[in-house]
Amino acid sequence: MDELLQAALAARENAYAPFSHFRVGAAVEDENGRIFTGCNVENATYGLTVCAERVAVFKGISEGARRFRRIAVAAAPKLATPCGACRQILWEFGGDMEVILVNPAGETLTLRMAELLPRAFDASNLD
Ligand code: THU
Repeated sequence: MDELLQAALAARENAYAPFSHFRVGAAVEDENGRIFTGCNVENATYGLTVCAERVAVFKGISEGARRFRRIAVAAAPKLATPCGACRQILWEFGGDMEVILVNPAGETLTLRMAELLPRAFDASNLD
């Protein structure tokens, strides 16, 4: 299996999800091939929960990455697409990047951001 998908599945093992029990892992690949991973991190207040995708992106940004070309998202048992908030963040740092959904059974679905977030608002709107 692709290293990026394996990284997302492994990151899912670290999910902190005592409230929903829904564990998610993510792995982003930057334009230099570097991989950054994340898991969902929940909070007793619920609303402060951060999704796996944003954890992975923000880890990458804080390590100097700026542009991502692919993300893998691991959930179970069904494949899960990124939430609306994560789609906006992914667009900011990857535009029409590849989004690969995977589950522990090895099922995958490859999508693109433009189909998940059509007509996105971004920096070009601020010109
Ligand atoms: N979650 C993610 O981490 N990524 C997604 O794409 C969907 C939802 C998390 C947030 C929360 O911890 C749990 O899954 C249930 O919504």
